[in-house]
Amino acid sequence: MEKPADKYIADKYINENPMVRMAGIHKTFNRDSVNERIVFTDFNLSIRRGEFLSVVGSNGSGKTTMLNILCGTIPQDGGAIEVSGANIDRLKEFERAKFIGRVFQDPSKGTCASLTILENMALADNKGRPYLLGRGVNRSRAGEYRAMLEPLGLGLENQMHVTVGSLSGGQRQALALLICTMTPIDLLILDEHTASLDPRSSETVMALTERVVLDKKLTTLMVTHNLRFAVDYGSRLLMLHQGVPVVDVSGAERSAYSVDDLLRKFNEISIADGNGI
Ligand SMILES: Nc1ncnc2c1ncn2[C@@H]1O[C@H](COP(=O)(O)OP(=O)(O)O)[C@@H](O)[C@H]1O
Ligand SMILES: [Mg+2]
Repeated sequence: MEKPADKYIADKYINENPMVRMAGIHKTFNRDSVNERIVFTDFNLSIRRGEFLSVVGSNGSGKTTMLNILCGTIPQDGGAIEVSGANIDRLKEFERAKFIGRVFQDPSKGTCASLTILENMALADNKGRPYLLGRGVNRSRAGEYRAMLEPLGLGLENQMHVTVGSLSGGQRQALALLICTMTPIDLLILDEHTASLDPRSSETVMALTERVVLDKKLTTLMVTHNLRFAVDYGSRLLMLHQGVPVVDVSGAERSAYSVDDLLRKFNEISIADGNGI
């Protein structure tokens, strides 16, 4: 497969301020208890507009905590977060959701199971608008929703009145991806969004992800357990270990990075930690 290299990044953006800046982040769970867990002591990450960052790392390395802090799901203990040059530390999770789209590992999280595809899309269309305003109006946009579903190639356009709970995991993740990118967002966050799918569906959802990212020129932060996805997709590759990026490559260096290189790095780290496999 052809490596995507830097096709995600338009040259004109290169000198701009970062889209996301996490600076000097500290996070400790259960401080001063026997269960104290220091996850970040001084975590720094900047993501440029248009970048597609793939993040890997062993269990407990801080990947989900990083996403949770960025989305406002949990507060950081110290440090600051900026999106598009504005500090967002005071914004609550639901406020950040207006400009940060997130697809979770669990397909039941991104969509509402008891509502139909059409109702889910109409609700998403209303994101950021006062409740009830325009709900009926947006239902009349069914034709447009159908046109958005068609290119997914999953036949969802013919099931718009089917409740989402009866769809397969792959179909739900595809819909979740579509829904969270329906309104303009600054940042797309993918939190192991293919991990609970069978191999074939995860390939489909990953290919679809790339298409959405490229079509909408999204800045994307994807955490994945799939080392091949991490290497094949994205413009920048990050490996986290104990809350610190131990690999951070982009451009030609990333293009030359292979799954074997990643495995070697995982082994190095594991041996350094005293658990040689
Ligand atoms: N809410 C929490 N309370 C206590 N400890 C937590 C909590 N969330 C995460 N941790 C701990 O923080 C560390 C990092 O977790 P996490 O960010 O979920 O790792 P990853 O997603 O890379 O597997 C782990 O040791 C985990 O047990
Ligand atoms: Mg995790």
